[in-house]
Order: sequence, then C-alpha cells, then structure tokens
Amino acid sequence: MRSDWPSMTAGFVCFARGVATAAPITQATLADEAARSLLPSPVASLIPRTGAPWARLAQWPLRVASAGLVDHLALRSAAIDQAVREAVDAGVSQLVLLGAGLDARAYRMECLGAVTVFEVDHPASQTYKRDRAQSLSPLAKLVRYVPVDFTKDDLARSLREAGHSAAEPSVWVWEGVTMYLPREAVSQTLSVVSAASAPNSRLAVTYMSTPAKPIPQGLRRLLDLGLSVVGEPLGANFTREELAALLQEYGFSVEQDENSRQWGTRFGGHAQLSLPFRQERLAVAIKRS
Ligand SMILES: C[S@@+](CC[C@H](N)C(=O)[O-])C[C@H]1O[C@@H](n2cnc3c(N)ncnc32)[C@H](O)[C@@H]1O
Repeated sequence: MRSDWPSMTAGFVCFARGVATAAPITQATLADEAARSLLPSPVASLIPRTGAPWARLAQWPLRVASAGLVDHLALRSAAIDQAVREAVDAGVSQLVLLGAGLDARAYRMECLGAVTVFEVDHPASQTYKRDRAQSLSPLAKLVRYVPVDFTKDDLARSLREAGHSAAEPSVWVWEGVTMYLPREAVSQTLSVVSAASAPNSRLAVTYMSTPAKPIPQGLRRLLDLGLSVVGEPLGANFTREELAALLQEYGFSVEQDENSRQWGTRFGGHAQLSLPFRQERLAVAIKRS
C-alpha cells in the first residue's frame, strides 16, 4: 500500500459496518456505532441513523450499491466476533488486531473488559485512526497502538515494546489484510505470530481463496485497476489446503474454514447478496503447544 496515505479499503469496510449497524442484517446484530466517528464526516453522514423508522429502507440502496460488501461485512464481523468471544471465554487476555484499519472491536465488544488490545497497522493508516479514535471510549481494558509495515518493519520487536507478552495466550485477528500482501510477507508475519503465541493462542485470519476457475481476464484487470488506483493492489491467494499447511508449519491447526455461505447458515442474513465476496474465507486456528 502507499506509505503516505491511510488505507482506502479500511474506509470502505468501516463504512460497510456502519451501514450494517443501522438496522440488523443478521441474527448476530452488529453494533459498530464507532464507525461513524472513525470515518470522515461527509462519508459518515451517508450512514442511516441506527434504529430510525426509515433506517432499513435507507440501508437497502447502500447494500445494493456496495455490491454485497455491507452484507459480507455483517457476516464476516459476526464470525470473527464469535471467534474472539470464544477465545476470551477460554481465558485469553490479549487481542492483537493485525492490520487493524478502522476496526472498532476495542470500542464495541463488552467481553474485552479484561483484555488488552494491540492495534497493529501500517503507520499511515494508524496515524489517521488514532486521531479519529480520540473521541471514543474503549470498552477494552487497554488499547495499545503498534505502527508496523508488514513488508519491512520488525513486528516482533514492536509488539514486545508495546507490552505484548509471548508467555500469555493471545487471540490474533488478521481480517481483510493477507490479500494485499505478498506471500513472503504473510509467511514472515506468521512466523512472528507463532513465536509470540503461547499455547492455546488462536488466530482468525481471512484470506482470498484461489478460484476453482480462473477469473475472466477482463474482470481481473478491472479489479486490479480499481485496487491499484487506491494504492492497494491484490497480493496473495491460497487454496484451503495451502493455507492449512502454511498455518500448520507455524504450529496452528485449523479448526474451522468458512465463507459467507456457512456464516449465513450460522447467523442468518442474506448470504446470497454477499456472493461477489465469497472468495474471501475465514480460517480459525489454534496453537496447542
Ligand atoms: C481492508 S483494510 C482491513 C482493515 C481491518 N482489518 C478491517 O477489517 O476493518 C486493510 C488493512 O491492511 C493494512 N495493511 C495493508 N498493507 C499493510 C502493510 N504492508 N503493513 C501493515 N498494514 C497493512 C491497511 O493499513 C489496512 O488497515
């Protein structure tokens, strides 16, 4: 990504969560009111007011115009939130958000009251987030900001210096990031994550799955062009087997690997609307020793 500009894709997904908050889309209602504070005011003003009688009606055109991103994010958030809750219930007291963007879990998840949240992100994105988050009160015990560029900075040292303990289990969330990184950066980051993960640590990572049939060239060019314009061209993709093998190499066993079809079964909602994003999958893995 560009080194001098906050991530635009982080803004898109934050907007989508804000829209998904306006009226429930799944049974696991998303309550990301912080999205409004984290977005630039003109963009935030497009989000329908939560609970307003017209909220659902006003939400529909945005769900359609987002090509399903709003529904995808409602489901993806529900699946990752559940993985975080399960980790906290199992006694984990450190949450590390890798490529945090405008993720507001530290400000919206009540289960984090005894948990320290480490927000790791590219310095350009993080400067913007810290500035916007000043008006928010965390629900987490502590929020620590850790500026890191995965392609060149020393993540291990930065985490240590921020107070992360490799002797205590962590839950790592790597949401919507690996697809913008080269494979080497994914592997290098995983080796740091593994070394900093005490037994019973968990990792929830989303990844772009390799399509069974190649994407038509015209569509692929259009996608590449759009993401290059915002400075975030696509990077790595993996088959399920490749991703599971890579995680295993770093000591994490995959317990669950799903996409929006399965999330829709678990949480309700309109999984068919999120079809354009179905290639993004979520693997939830545990490090047992
Ligand atoms: C699509 S956003 C996802 C943000 C957040 N995880 C979420 O789901 O809302 C991608 C995030 O990856 C981060 N990112 C991309 N390349 C990065 C890099 N080389 N080093 C650190 N962060 C990076 C961006 O700063 C951005 O916050």
